[in-house]
Amino acid sequence: MEFFADTADVEAIRELGEAGLIDGVTTNPTLVAKTGRDFLSVIGEICAITEGPVSAEVASTDFTGMVAEGERLADIAGNVVIKLPLTLDGLKACAHFRRVGIRTNVTLCFSAAQAILAAKAGASYVSPFIGRMDDINLDGVALIRDIRRIFDNYGFETKLLAASIRSPNHVTRSALAGADVATCPPTVIKSLVAHPLTEKGLHGFLSDWKRSGQSIV
Ligand code: G3P
Repeated sequence: MEFFADTADVEAIRELGEAGLIDGVTTNPTLVAKTGRDFLSVIGEICAITEGPVSAEVASTDFTGMVAEGERLADIAGNVVIKLPLTLDGLKACAHFRRVGIRTNVTLCFSAAQAILAAKAGASYVSPFIGRMDDINLDGVALIRDIRRIFDNYGFETKLLAASIRSPNHVTRSALAGADVATCPPTVIKSLVAHPLTEKGLHGFLSDWKRSGQSIV
């Protein structure tokens, strides 16, 4: 399973990248607005410090506007993936970018039927928002499981990207359900490492080591 950082915070991405914890980055207009920075330059900076794909979302809702914005974003760097909303115009733009060889991430997916459409339009990634589904008492992980089965049934190559992840539990359950990628806020990625028994065990080893009076170097 690949991990993407779901953030536009350059410093957080740098830290996770240096620790070898991420394979790519996803952003959205809300995350970019939170930084208070210029969209194009923040995406440029993220692309420069990230080897893997960086999703950058269009703001237009019509086909022509999405294509113009997507082309501008794709010009920033070779690792930009154009994020498009799961609407008719978004799917049309997705098919267009597929034809010209530009990767896409079709976002705001909340049903298996929508995911099929994204795959048929040639999306590189489709992003079901599992946390937002759980928020309204739907089962986000069950959607991941359904999409996985459908994609495998038909050999769709679109990568299944579990988005709107809120907890380590979401990550584990998405992995079990067959997601190719989990995009998580940096806080969630960091929290994956923590376990009370790891901390307790380390504390015990260190105090026994100290008592032994030895040193390694
Ligand atoms: O980038 C899409 C997604 O991960 C949004 O998450 O927490 O705003 O539902 P959230």
